Order: sequence, then structure tokens, then C-alpha cells
Amino acid sequence: MKTFRFQYVLILFIIHLSQSYAYNILAVFPHLGKSHIDVFLPLMKGLTNKGHNVTIISNFPLSKPIPNYRDIDLGGTSQAFVDVIDMAQLDASNRIYKVLNTLFLSYMANMSCETGLSSKALQNFMKTKEKYDLMIIELFNSDCFLSLAHKIKAPIIGLSSCTPMPWTSERFANPTHTAYIPNNNMDYSDKMTFLERVENTVVTLFHQYHYEYFTLSRDEQIARKYLGRKASHVREFIKNSSILLTNTHFTLTLPRPLVPNVVEIGGIHIGKVRTLPKVRKYTNSYLKDQVGRLKTTPF
Ligand SMILES: *[C@@H]1O[C@H](CO)[C@@H](O)[C@H](O)[C@H]1NC(C)=O
Ligand SMILES: *[C@@H]1O[C@H](CO)[C@@H](O)[C@H](O)[C@H]1NC(C)=O
Ligand SMILES: *[C@@H]1O[C@H](CO)[C@@H](O)[C@H](O)[C@H]1NC(C)=O
Repeated sequence: MKTFRFQYVLILFIIHLSQSYAYNILAVFPHLGKSHIDVFLPLMKGLTNKGHNVTIISNFPLSKPIPNYRDIDLGGTSQAFVDVIDMAQLDASNRIYKVLNTLFLSYMANMSCETGLSSKALQNFMKTKEKYDLMIIELFNSDCFLSLAHKIKAPIIGLSSCTPMPWTSERFANPTHTAYIPNNNMDYSDKMTFLERVENTVVTLFHQYHYEYFTLSRDEQIARKYLGRKASHVREFIKNSSILLTNTHFTLTLPRPLVPNVVEIGGIHIGKVRTLPKVRKYTNSYLKDQVGRLKTTPF
């Protein structure tokens, strides 16, 4: 009888142990582009499959709810800007575009910060007393949502849906040496001519200074306006970010030195691999159709 009771207690203890490994995770995707959250949705769903609770603050709630996954919809999709962008129009070989892209991203950031932080959904969220073990946030064109760190008070994991922006690498002390690491707004490789290196350096410095002095200052202002003074120390929360996971892979996005807390996770969105069909006729109309689809990919 005694051994039976001991086994009973042991089983309860093991069940208790396995339960206490579940975390309450907050994930934040404030950017008004759907592709930026889509690439990390498999990761978020994977976390819920492992039993963690994931709360996602974004503009793109799931159409079908799944267990352990809660959406907080910032409602930004009603913004006229979240439309289909013709990627072919964004001609990356145009010099002016390369340099000014950061102003365009900054304009979009202002939009997502203003609409997101002022939204009813977010304001209601700020009033709850929920505790979180981890905050995951996309680091892209703005840091105004890092102000949530003041409420969450948990370790911060950054995500980058593209090659890290020039200002994102800096904060993790990840090298951005412009002699062989091209600015990700340019179409250069790691083998640049002297003049290309000069251009790469000037453009990267411009992007970094613009972000540091313009975008971050505005992020602080917007955070102060909607969440209060204590939440506005965005630069402090930046320093507290622990790790950056980037949607890159050296085979596609060039090899570059990475500090140990910047980790390439390119391909994380790929689900079950299917075998290619044996015969596929790449007719002209098929190819035309594919190109047509590419052109209407949402930004
Ligand atoms: C996850 O959410 C459920 C339902 O709200 C709750 O009962 C559970 O305690 C949560 N788990 C954690 C680890 O917070
Ligand atoms: C940012 O957005 C607000 C509200 O939509 C607007 O009033 C302001 O002019 C914008 N600022 C910039 C620099 O675009
Ligand atoms: C940064 O993280 C440390 C350790 O987790 C914490 O003590 C500190 O309050 C955080 N700073 C800010 C500004 O959140």
C-alpha cells in the first residue's frame, strides 16, 4: 500500500513538473506589412503546440482561432496603406530609392506607432495585470512598441524578418563593417568596388543617424503620449534585448560575422517538405502566371 502511495505522489510530482515548463509569452508584430508576421507564425504556432500560451499583438489576427493562441488586434488593417504593393515598382537599383527607403519605412513606422499604441485593444491590454515570462518582438522600422517592456518586465527576444536593418545590428554589437557587409537597402554583394564601398558607407551612416536621431526620438515621444513617461525609455529597453533571431541564411543572404546572440533561423517557416511532382511543364502561360502572382505579393 505504501509503495502505491509513493508512486502516486511521484506521478503527481512529474505531472506538476511538466506543467510548470509552460510559459506565458507575449509576441509583438506592430508593422503594417503582413509578410513580417507570416514568416514567424509557424514559430508562434509551434510554441502553442508545445503547451505555451502565446498572446500576439499585431494587425493581422488569425482567421481561425487555435488553442493557447490569443490575438490582440491593433486594427491597423483598415489603414489605406495596408494594400497590395507592386514590388516591381520598388526598384532597388534606383540610387535615390536606396537612400530614401529609410524615410519611407519611417513614415510607415509613424503610422503603426500612432494607430497601434492609441488603439482601444492596446489600451485595454495595458490595463490588465497579466504576467508574462518572455516578450518576443519584431525589430524592424521602429521601436515604439518596445515601450511595452516597461509593463512586461521579462527578457526580450528580437526577431528580424529580413536581413537585420543597419540600426538593428549595431545594438547587438553585431559587425556592420561597410567594406564587405552591404546595406540591406542596396543590391550589392560582399565584393564591392572602392566606389561602391564609399557609397555603402555613406548610405549606411545616413540610415543609422536618421534612425538614432529621428525615428527613435519620435518613438519615445509617441510612447510617452500614449503609455506614459516611464514607458518611453525606449533606448534603455533596446539595451536590454537579449538575443536576435534573423530570417536569413548565409547561402542566400551572404555570409557575415555574427556575434553569438544573433542567430540565423532562415527556413523556420517551412513546414512539411513535399516531394516535387515528377513532370512539370513550365509553359509560357504557367511562368507568366507565376510572375503575375509575384507582382501582387503584399509588402
Ligand atoms: C494559459 O492560459 C490558460 C487559459 O487562459 C490558463 O489557464 C493557463 O494558466 C495559462 N498558462 C500559463 C503558463 O500561463
Ligand atoms: C505621424 O502621424 C501623426 C498621426 O497620424 C501625424 O499627425 C504626424 O504628422 C505624423 N508625423 C510624421 C512625421 O509623419
Ligand atoms: C533591464 O533588465 C534588467 C535585468 O533583467 C532589469 O533589472 C532592468 O530593470 C531592465 N531595465 C529596463 C530599463 O527595463
